[in-house]
Amino acid sequence: AAGPAILPSLLQCDFGDLRSEVEQLTAAGARVLHLDVMDGHFVPNLTYGMPIVEGLRRHTNMPLDVHLMISDPMAYAKPMVDAGADLLTFHVEAVQDSVDVAGQIRDLGVGVGVAINPDTDFAKLDDCLDAVDMVLVMSVNAGFGGQSFNPVALDRLKSLKQRKPDLLLEIDGGIKVDTIGAAREAGCDLFVVGSAIFGQHDYETAINELTLAMNG
Ligand code: DX5
Ligand code: ZN
Repeated sequence: AAGPAILPSLLQCDFGDLRSEVEQLTAAGARVLHLDVMDGHFVPNLTYGMPIVEGLRRHTNMPLDVHLMISDPMAYAKPMVDAGADLLTFHVEAVQDSVDVAGQIRDLGVGVGVAINPDTDFAKLDDCLDAVDMVLVMSVNAGFGGQSFNPVALDRLKSLKQRKPDLLLEIDGGIKVDTIGAAREAGCDLFVVGSAIFGQHDYETAINELTLAMNG
């Protein structure tokens, strides 16, 4: 990754006009898209799967960062890669053997991330830190947009940055102009943003304000 980036999360967008959403985000300066895949089982919410990823792939060259909030990530990893995902993140809570899952995803030829919810024992990540490209530190419980930021994420980012300086760090949940600066200071590289972009009329202004706040 070339410097820190703000990743719009396609969760609160207009699904009736995805092509226009992608065009607006491109014009607003977005460089990577974050796709929230939920199965109604790992989380009590249901979003979308491969057809949407594949449809987005046809409309943009931006890397697609796919956040799998699903109980059986390996059942869909290959189909997601075939649909055009560039990076696949699974939840550490969803799998028995995170090292094995990370290895299997990496063997598919894409980047691999591991995500952890705020209430999950942080030590659960220890095993797989050497097996992933990225850690997604959740600052809300996975499942819904528009929740408020849990600062436990900041301590986790700092700890990860110290232990593994080369690991890519991503944060997701409640990232707004008043939280993004602290996340950047804690060592975060990739900032997933839902409501603070899609709740605004002008995506470019929203991204510019977030970028300013990020650079403090
Ligand atoms: C939550 C999703 C997020 C969500 C963030 O489960 O992973 O990507 O869209 O939304 P905000 O920015 O509104 O917290
Ligand atoms: Zn997400």
